Amino acid sequence: MRKLTYFIACSIDGFIGDPGGDASSMIPFVDEEFLAFLKAEHPETIWTQGRRAIGIDDLENKRFDTIIQGRASYDIALKDGITRPYAHLREYVASTTLKESPDPNVEIIADDLVGKVRELKAEEGEFGIYLCGGSRIAGALLDEIDELVIKTYPLVYGTGMPMFGSGFAISEFTLESVRAFGNGVLVRTYGRKR
Ligand SMILES: NC(=O)c1ccc[n+]([C@@H]2O[C@H](COP(=O)([O-])OP(=O)(O)OC[C@H]3O[C@@H](n4cnc5c(N)ncnc54)[C@H](OP(=O)(O)O)[C@@H]3O)[C@@H](O)[C@H]2O)c1
Repeated sequence: MRKLTYFIACSIDGFIGDPGGDASSMIPFVDEEFLAFLKAEHPETIWTQGRRAIGIDDLENKRFDTIIQGRASYDIALKDGITRPYAHLREYVASTTLKESPDPNVEIIADDLVGKVRELKAEEGEFGIYLCGGSRIAGALLDEIDELVIKTYPLVYGTGMPMFGSGFAISEFTLESVRAFGNGVLVRTYGRKR
């Protein structure tokens, strides 16, 4: 069974961006030390344009071979004319409004999102599935998430876009590792307690 991992950047108070979802205030914390960690352990979570800009486009994937994004998150790249923002991964975008995929390499999931994710998880393979966000798709897939990798930046937003756009329900996770960086960023990994 392949894991579905929600790998996400958050404020201390659990927001993935400002009320509109903008997380650009977190970018300055991607300093030399933190970028070295991302390059070494999670290079596939850096989008293709970013990988090219820092000269790591040829790095092999370490943990994931597939990405799932919500349409609003995918729109950010699409607005800049980028139809395949994670070209090093198999890309899926959940959407009921994008009637046709803007790219032959990007598959749209319009119906039965949970069923499709279960199908992907049941595939054979050593690599997992990267749930990129945003909030609404993470809420829709909360019960399917096997692992959380939360990059917490030392910022308090007060309000903003929550990690999960879902109703109240308690799910328990087990802390598996914590890594602290010199600039105050924490990366915590949790496994799902089933
Ligand atoms: N901090 C981080 O690491 C991080 C990571 C990713 C994204 N973000 C931020 O998150 C924001 C976007 O989050 P969001 O919550 O507004 O949107 P989102 O989750 O990215 O996308 C929501 C859209 O996904 C589709 N969708 C959701 N559930 C579905 C289902 N069950 N079946 C089919 N389609 C489904 C719908 O598209 P249709 O409307 O087309 O039907 C829905 O409008 C962005 O601003 C981005 O910057 C932050």
